[in-house]
Amino acid sequence: MTLIEIAQKLVGQRKGILAMDESTATCNERLESVGVLPSPERRRAWRDLLVTTPNLGNCISGAILVDETIRETALDGRPFVTALDEAGIISGIKVDMGAKDMAAFAGEKITDGLDGLRARFADYAELGARFAKWRAVLSIGGGLPSRGCIEANAHALARYAALAQEAGLVPIVEPELLMTGDDSLEECGRITEALLRSVFEQLSLGRVALDGMILKPNMVLPGLKCATQDPIDTVAGATVRCLLRAVPADVAGIAFLSGGQTGELATERLAAIRRIASLPGKDLPWPLTFSFARAIQWPALQIWAGHDANVWRAQAALFKRADCNRAALVGNYDGAMEQHAA
Ligand code: 13P
Repeated sequence: MTLIEIAQKLVGQRKGILAMDESTATCNERLESVGVLPSPERRRAWRDLLVTTPNLGNCISGAILVDETIRETALDGRPFVTALDEAGIISGIKVDMGAKDMAAFAGEKITDGLDGLRARFADYAELGARFAKWRAVLSIGGGLPSRGCIEANAHALARYAALAQEAGLVPIVEPELLMTGDDSLEECGRITEALLRSVFEQLSLGRVALDGMILKPNMVLPGLKCATQDPIDTVAGATVRCLLRAVPADVAGIAFLSGGQTGELATERLAAIRRIASLPGKDLPWPLTFSFARAIQWPALQIWAGHDANVWRAQAALFKRADCNRAALVGNYDGAMEQHAA
């Protein structure tokens, strides 16, 4: 498959991309938060639960794995990549090595992982990955993010994306502005736009084919601790406006991250964004979808809590979130869906 074909399969079917690419440390933290003692076997059991959820392929087009998972087998002995393939889901791989303190930029992060990336891409392609992800993380507030931090992260994203395309993998380019503080929606919009403009400038300089890449941005939101929590339609309008200003039309698609929003709120906002996108005269140039981790996994993780007896109920909860988000994409989401048992 060409890059354009892979990207279209990922974003052009009104299905989402499941992010299940937590690093070992983050996955362990999440397991501990529901009382599970973390271990390689427990991580494998949790990821098995996600991947073998019945009918997941109806709502999910791709799944982003981590190095540990792409080399492992599901509990029934099939490689995870095969299990996903048989469910109609394309495998992807997170290739960044995490956000590290940026020298000389107190309080800011730069994402590591470019060294040796060409060889790692060859290995991942061999293992069956058809797309990749790299996440840059920028904090807001107190004058941050600085221009230096924005440009360094944008440059790294572009170098990663070019290497991914060279290896035949579609890069998901994820510049995330963290909205965990008390900053306003206006501030988030202003900085997200500046960040996206810088990312696309670097992608252009780096000769990345935009029709063979997917952008994974934050929505334009008030911070989680902001006293003013703007209405859903305001968030949706600000998000669409920002993307129209900063994202070139030939990008293959846009897949939102959830960034700590609850599952239901992320879905409601996605549905509202889609409503604006389908207004007469809007005609957004790119397909929109979701690529959530927490907002799709969390209810399932709480139900599972490490017990085999809870697997099917947890899978039903995962499917419900995936299905609600798919409904949001096709314009069928209705709050009443949330009342139905998972
Ligand atoms: P959240 O949806 O939990 O923000 O995670 C998305 C993701 O892929 C982070 O890299």
